[in-house]
Amino acid sequence: MREAVRIIEMGPRDGLQNEKTPVSVADRIAFIEALIGAGLNAVEVGSFVSPKAIPQMVGSAEVLRGVSHHTDCDLPVLVPNEKGYEASQAAGAKLIAVFAAASESFSRANINCSIAESIDRFKPILARARADGVRVRGYVSTVLGCPYEGEIRPQAVVDIARVLWDLGCYEISLGDTIGVGTPAKARQLLRAVSSEVPMPKLAMHFHDTYGQALANLYAGMEEGCRVIDSAAGGLGGCPYAPGATGNVATEDVVYMLEGMGISTGVDMTKLLAAINVVSGLIGRPPVSRVATALNAKARAGK
Ligand code: HMG
Ligand code: MG
Repeated sequence: MREAVRIIEMGPRDGLQNEKTPVSVADRIAFIEALIGAGLNAVEVGSFVSPKAIPQMVGSAEVLRGVSHHTDCDLPVLVPNEKGYEASQAAGAKLIAVFAAASESFSRANINCSIAESIDRFKPILARARADGVRVRGYVSTVLGCPYEGEIRPQAVVDIARVLWDLGCYEISLGDTIGVGTPAKARQLLRAVSSEVPMPKLAMHFHDTYGQALANLYAGMEEGCRVIDSAAGGLGGCPYAPGATGNVATEDVVYMLEGMGISTGVDMTKLLAAINVVSGLIGRPPVSRVATALNAKARAGK
C-alpha cells in the first residue's frame, strides 16, 4: 500500500466549471500558481468546450498560457472535439483529455452525442495528437452510476475504457461523476477494468456526493491503483449531474495519504491558503472536513 501515489489536481477545471460565481482568468491563474506552489505538479487548468455550455471555462486559453512556464508540471485541458483540439493547440497545450461516458443518457446530456459518436469525434483528435506529440488522457464518466439511468454495468465501463486505451490514451480516469459509489463497487470496477487496461494506467476520479470518496479511493488503492484525481477545497461538481458535489477534496486525500506514510510532496498550509483564497472568491467556505478542521483550529489560535 505504501507505493507513491500521483495526485492530479482538478480544482481549476472540474471544480470551478460548476461554481455559480465565475472566477476571472487572473484569479484562475493565481489559484493554479498557488496550487503548484503548494507542491502539486499536475493541475487540470481548463477546458476548450462550448462557452454556452460552460461559461465558467471561458478564457481557458489565457489561463493555460499564463501557467505554461511550469514546464515540469502536467497541465491538462479538456477537449471534446476537433474545434476544441485546435483551440487547445493554439494555446500551446501539451496534454489534453477527451471525455466519454459509460451511459448513453449522460453522453447525450454532457456532449450532445451518443457514446459511439463521441468515439468517432475522438479518433481524429488522437491521430492529430499523436502526430503533434501531444499526450491524451481519457475519462470515462458515470462509472459507478448515472444521474439518468441509475446502475451502470461494470462491463459497459470496461468496454469504453478499452476503446479509449486502444485509441492511444496514455491513462484512463474512471469518473464516479455523481459520487454514488461505495467501496465494494469501486473495488469490483477496478478489478474489471484492469483486466483490459493495466492497473498502473488507471486513475480514480471520484466525486464525494455521498461522502464515500475516500473509502472508495482506499479500496481502489488496495487493488493497486495509484493515480487520484482530486479538487482543492472539494470544489465543484458536474453541470450535467444535478446535485452532484465536487471531486474528493485534495486536502482530504493528502491528509489520508500522509497518515498512511505515503509522502505527497504537498504543503498543507500552502494548499489551505490557496483554498481559502478561492473560497473567498466564490463566496462560500470549503466543504471538506480537513479544510474545515484546519480553519477552525487556526481561528482558535491552536
Ligand atoms: P454541440 O452543440 O453538439 O456542438 O455541442 P456543435 O458542433 O453543434 O456546435 C454548437 C456550437 O458550439 C457552435 O457555436 C460551435 O461553434 C460551438 P454557434 O454556432 O452555436 O455559436 N462549439 C464550440 N465552441 C468552443 N469550443 C468547442 C466547441 N465545439 C462546438 N470545442 C459540445 C457539443 C461537446 C461542444 C458541447 O456539448 C459542450 O461543450 N459540452 C460541454 C461539456 C463539458 O464541458 N462538460 C463538463 C466537463 S466533463 C466532466 O466534468 C466529467 C469529468 O469530470 C469526469 C467525471 O466526473 O465523470 C471529466
Ligand atoms: Mg468530474
